[in-house]
Amino acid sequence: MKAERLRLCVALDVVDADTAQKTTRLLAEHVDVFKIGLQLFCAEGPSVIGAVRDAGAREIFLDLKLHDIPNTVAGAVKSARRHAVDYLTVHTGGGRAMLEAAQSEAGPVQLLGVTVLTSLSDGDLAEVGHTSGTDTLVERRAGLAASIGLSGVVCSPLEVARVASIMGTSACIVTPGIRLDGDALGDQRRVATPERALADGATMLVIGRPILAAPDPIDAARAARERVRGPR
Ligand code: C5P
Repeated sequence: MKAERLRLCVALDVVDADTAQKTTRLLAEHVDVFKIGLQLFCAEGPSVIGAVRDAGAREIFLDLKLHDIPNTVAGAVKSARRHAVDYLTVHTGGGRAMLEAAQSEAGPVQLLGVTVLTSLSDGDLAEVGHTSGTDTLVERRAGLAASIGLSGVVCSPLEVARVASIMGTSACIVTPGIRLDGDALGDQRRVATPERALADGATMLVIGRPILAAPDPIDAARAARERVRGPR
């Protein structure tokens, strides 16, 4: 894995654009990608994308986990493309036709397929009617994403090795559920350290609370970056 392919992404799971901009300014030196998720997007709408970019984000990851009928998702991808985001998530659970429709509108936006949320355990999947466990479901969904030509997938760090072998070496393998030593799990279930995820083939690590809720977020981001790419 070439060092320049490895990216550290911070999840801007914050309440408003002002906080997102302050966080981005604070951490931009150490972070490659800033992720705008549902909380921030619902609070501020698409204008927050420009606000985060203006605050110094080099790359923007719009994490909306789109999951709807193909026509609706294709329209949403087309709209997101107008904001020149670098990465956008779609949910692989939406099926082949939805993913193909999304990819047909993606243009330069790198579409990432969410496999199975890192907060879900085998028991959670069984409760909502899945007869296979997380491993099998992740493999099937990564295979689907690869067959459609998505740029990459999002999976738990515990599944990175298998997913990397399915997706091939040019894919973007993104993993949330990263915990630095001794961090609280929060609602995450399938977690690992940066070293384990990277050794297995991850190309982008997404970290939220372990940096945002740290006593010193700059220190935490710097430490995470060194663990991702070595000291500057
Ligand atoms: O705070 P924490 O490090 O758990 O944040 C992880 C981030 O990654 C959150 O923004 C969450 O929405 C996102 N994510 C995830 N699992 C996925 C896809 C995205 O936890 N499968």
